[in-house]
Amino acid sequence: MTTSKFSLAPLPYDISALEPHISEQTLHYHHDKHMAAYVNKLNELIDGTRFEGMPLKQIICQSNGAIFNNAAQAWNHEFYFAQFSPTPQKSPEGMLSAAIEACYGGVEALKEKMTADALSLFGSGWVWLAADDKGELYVVSKPNAGTPLTEGLTPLLTIDVWEHAYYIDYRNARTDGVKAFWEVLDWSVISARYDKR
Ligand code: FE2
Repeated sequence: MTTSKFSLAPLPYDISALEPHISEQTLHYHHDKHMAAYVNKLNELIDGTRFEGMPLKQIICQSNGAIFNNAAQAWNHEFYFAQFSPTPQKSPEGMLSAAIEACYGGVEALKEKMTADALSLFGSGWVWLAADDKGELYVVSKPNAGTPLTEGLTPLLTIDVWEHAYYIDYRNARTDGVKAFWEVLDWSVISARYDKR
């Protein structure tokens, strides 16, 4: 067994803090079961390989197959859970606000586009807002464990479109799951990610 293992990052808020939009039960399964399984599987898969001891982003960019899937899912989920708050800032600020205005005509139009992309993504995957080095914004849909990191873009926010993200609370109503997502998305986190890129 290797000594340098990835570990499950704790939720940055109480497990019931996002109710009623995302329930404690959903977070229990999504974080403590699904995300934990990706992290554990990744540790198992890289044990004794050239990926052992490598930073997670590098593994994502250099791997494929099961190692890529579990590495990307581990990274995607930590990034996903970190963007919520029980007291979210409801709209972007500063440079991100200006970039969204310039690219999409405002945050409501961006949310409509990302929601439409989430609803039309077939099967499991992620819908991302990402930025390039110049600060240009891109909405990117990725199947399965896909991430814009592999295209050299900086992720800013992501909608988890896997059924496990919403099925307990909203069953097959993905529309309601995405609507709830926007209620707890903390734009101060997203603006800070943009400023830091
Ligand atoms: Fe997920």
